[in-house]
Amino acid sequence: MHPLILGIESSCDETAAAVIAGGVLRSNVVASQEVHAKWGGVVPELASRAHQEHIVPVVREALDKAGVAKERLHAVAFTRGPGLIGALLVGTCFARSLAQALHLPLLAVDHVQAHVMAHFIRDGEDRPQPDFPFLNLTVSGGHSQLVLVRSPLDMQVIGTTLDDAAGEAFDKGAKVLGLPYPGGPLVDRYAQLGDPNRFPLPKPAIEGLDLSFSGIKTAFVALVNREERDQPGFKEAERNDLCASLQAAIIDHLLAKVRRAIRQTGVAHIGMAGGVAANSALRQRLAELGRREGVHVFTPPMAYCTDNAAMIAMAGHHLFLAGRHAALDVVPVPRSH
Ligand code: KG4
Ligand code: ZN
Repeated sequence: MHPLILGIESSCDETAAAVIAGGVLRSNVVASQEVHAKWGGVVPELASRAHQEHIVPVVREALDKAGVAKERLHAVAFTRGPGLIGALLVGTCFARSLAQALHLPLLAVDHVQAHVMAHFIRDGEDRPQPDFPFLNLTVSGGHSQLVLVRSPLDMQVIGTTLDDAAGEAFDKGAKVLGLPYPGGPLVDRYAQLGDPNRFPLPKPAIEGLDLSFSGIKTAFVALVNREERDQPGFKEAERNDLCASLQAAIIDHLLAKVRRAIRQTGVAHIGMAGGVAANSALRQRLAELGRREGVHVFTPPMAYCTDNAAMIAMAGHHLFLAGRHAALDVVPVPRSH
């Protein structure tokens, strides 16, 4: 069977819709919200309103681009959580209503698990995919996890952040340097011109496979504020070295845990997903780690790493095949358990 599935994503600051047919992408539409840049972070209230404005045109565009009339759909998949509650409510209510009106099954997708499904989106390009079981490093603005992926419906979180997400550490570090939100891509760019050893930052001492970024962030903010007080203009003058040092500290911590997880699980394949997977130094260093440890590394194209609905539809595809339908009165869950 080649189910036609509409995916809807509204957990943070992207309103997105996509259609897949039998696991093959037919359309993928993302409306990113620009409104947050001037506030230095996502403003939940503004995010909900922007989702409300975008959701109807975004879904319509996804159906049009796919050439699929809504009556031909087999199911509606949506992000149930984790994410901002007001943002999730918009996507959830829309998906519930659509499923009810069209008498379709509703598929409630976990957003963080869906990031992992980005590896399996087929779009006509010939890309190698990881074999099960594999280890996935899921790193974005809202999540940082190490996941042992046994199948599309069997994922075990074996390590998670105890405080901030990796992307948050990039964004908060960028903010203290006066860079606009989201700062991650800018830190990446300036770091390429800087010395990663110039400003040593603490190495988080966290047991096992869990992660923590608040120590790095706090030390970085304190360093910038202290130096800026003594010599105004410091953060502009030293921007490249500061970005390189922050980025290196974040990547060192991530890779120390990935290395440990590889050895502990004995997997032959590792995947990376989430917005931070765009980071050029992280990609390069994960590839090097893979070569040293003798494991293959897989990173989906960037359009599937940052928040999108293709991954939601792909996760929905597997829920549909397994007959795991949600009740029509399903409610969002803002946090992972
Ligand atoms: O997956 P995503 O689009 O949204 C969430 O689910 O959070 O990830 C966004 C995060 C932001 O924190 C952004 O700064 C970070 O990904 N990011 C990067 C880069 N590109 C995006 N961080 C570091 N280097 C990059 N090149
Ligand atoms: Zn995400």
